[in-house]
Amino acid sequence: MKEQLEAIKQTAFEAVKNAVSEKEIEDLRVKYLGKKGELTALLKQMGGLSPEERPKMGQLVNEAKSNVENLISKKAEELKKKATELKLKAETIDITMPAKEQKIGKLHPLNTVLDDMIDIFQSMGFDVLDGPEVETDHYNFECLNVPADHPARDMQDTFYLGENLLLRTQTSAAQIRTMETRKPPIRVICPGRVFRADEVDATHSPVFHQIEGLVVDKGITMCDLKGVLEQFAHEIYGKDTNVKFRPSFFPFTEPSVEVDVTCSECGGKGCRVCKGSGWIEILGAGMVHPNVLRSCGIDPDVYSGFAFGIGLDRLTTTRYKISDIRLLFENDKRFLDQF
Ligand code: DAH
Repeated sequence: MKEQLEAIKQTAFEAVKNAVSEKEIEDLRVKYLGKKGELTALLKQMGGLSPEERPKMGQLVNEAKSNVENLISKKAEELKKKATELKLKAETIDITMPAKEQKIGKLHPLNTVLDDMIDIFQSMGFDVLDGPEVETDHYNFECLNVPADHPARDMQDTFYLGENLLLRTQTSAAQIRTMETRKPPIRVICPGRVFRADEVDATHSPVFHQIEGLVVDKGITMCDLKGVLEQFAHEIYGKDTNVKFRPSFFPFTEPSVEVDVTCSECGGKGCRVCKGSGWIEILGAGMVHPNVLRSCGIDPDVYSGFAFGIGLDRLTTTRYKISDIRLLFENDKRFLDQF
């Protein structure tokens, strides 16, 4: 039995010494020291020994067990350290490598321009309001002095959702909603999407954006309209930009104007963008029609006001020299990444 013990010890020492992985060491621990291990088995055989031999042999086997145990633990530690070192070496960070590019989201150009416009109007004391995109005929046309048989309805090809329900063709509907809920003095803008059944081309889209403005108070005149809109145009396009007020027609304003600014592409000389005129039209405006004030329960003999509707898409395409309005809606990342 002594020889047997010696032999097991020797092979165990040898095997532990030659082990190269933590897994191998674990297997050896089981093989020699586990419940069914070779050294454990020896202890079980001791019943066959004489009473004098038994304690001596027991001591020898236990010594061998603890020797093997120590050796295994030492080796296990050594291998673990080695494995960690190898792992660390493999994971070394090369700080001279170029950094990975971080993709960060950014504002759509329409939002950048809208934010600027909101800043400008807020600094002049305007509140920002929201209105529904699905409107009734009543708010989108009727109260804006455009009755059912009015020829001005032809100016705006409308998406109808039902007899009286439609996708708003203009943010002007928000004027009525505002005057129904607020009493003068009123100073609001209402940005939003509008919809028209237009053919799609480089300058037309069935969905586009407007910013409606409304001011109502005692003693508001055309001078206030001119002052506010000139100030706005100068802040957006720069102090050197010329601003021109042209007589026009809208059913809900009287008198009505359209506002042009110097073409930002050619500086007024005339080019493809301004179709040779040197001017770009950016908004429609006018003094709120007495009928409109009346339809909202505001007495036109006491109060007056002006309103305007600015095309956000046109402002954005001219600011960034974007040649096709469709680019604003296609969400092509190659385009959007340029802003
Ligand atoms: N709603 C008009 C349009 O879509 C723009 C407009 C013109 C709005 C004059 C106004 C205004 O508030 O006073 O063409």
